[in-house]
Amino acid sequence: MSIFKSIDLTKCPEHIAIIMDGNGRWAKQQGEMRLFGHTYGVEAVREVLKACVELGVKYLTLYAFSTENWNRPKEEVDGLMNLLVDTIANEVDELNENGVRLHSIGDENQLPEACNHELNIAKKATEHNTKVNLILALNYSARWEILNAVKEIAQKVKSGELKPNEIQENDFCSALSMPGFPDPELMIRTSGEYRLSNFLLWQIAYSELYFTDKLWPDFKKEDLFEAVLDFQSRERRFGLVSEQLK
Ligand code: FPP
Repeated sequence: MSIFKSIDLTKCPEHIAIIMDGNGRWAKQQGEMRLFGHTYGVEAVREVLKACVELGVKYLTLYAFSTENWNRPKEEVDGLMNLLVDTIANEVDELNENGVRLHSIGDENQLPEACNHELNIAKKATEHNTKVNLILALNYSARWEILNAVKEIAQKVKSGELKPNEIQENDFCSALSMPGFPDPELMIRTSGEYRLSNFLLWQIAYSELYFTDKLWPDFKKEDLFEAVLDFQSRERRFGLVSEQLK
């Protein structure tokens, strides 16, 4: 029986962020090249998106390519970029059918032109969808993002638009990559690794962290439901004590 029925749909996270890890190890287990794992990883992305639609999760942010991933063997980087380009191009109809709007975060300047081209087409084609916002982190790292925000704030100080001692948290949030999006309440990492790997470091200040041994290509709808159920068992105190929450 699906554990979907055990989930309180009125208490689902609005925003889930996922570090999709374990594609390479999954491929190795199958005696295949690493890229085979990434290709199967796309199936897990489809599963998770559908689960988000069912749960009413409004924002899903996926760590698809970090600024550090460029240092992998060229064959893997090229293959991964081609896979991203093909997937984005091929999935537009499915995104529209499911009411999914596509966004991206990260440094676009270094991405291949074909990738930016397909991204822009898919963003435009899905801009009216309202069920789920799918945010792909591509050539992203949190330190890159925070540094960029610092530069933007510094410019505003230089131009006199902001005074240093009047800078508020909101000013900083506005300079980050996802202004207007809520912070993720739940951050998931697959593959049994317990690291944040430079992902959304500012935004996850109060996120609940969920780690699973499942390798990303094996991650199914039910696994997301399990993570959400676990999330619902947590007491989120935000620095308060239990009694204050009652
Ligand atoms: C980490 O596993 C995975 C990645 C760096 C790439 C994730 C990309 C996809 C699943 C494709 C998604 C496509 C779209 C359109 C979102 P790893 O290679 O580090 O695995 P390992 O730790 O086992 O080596």
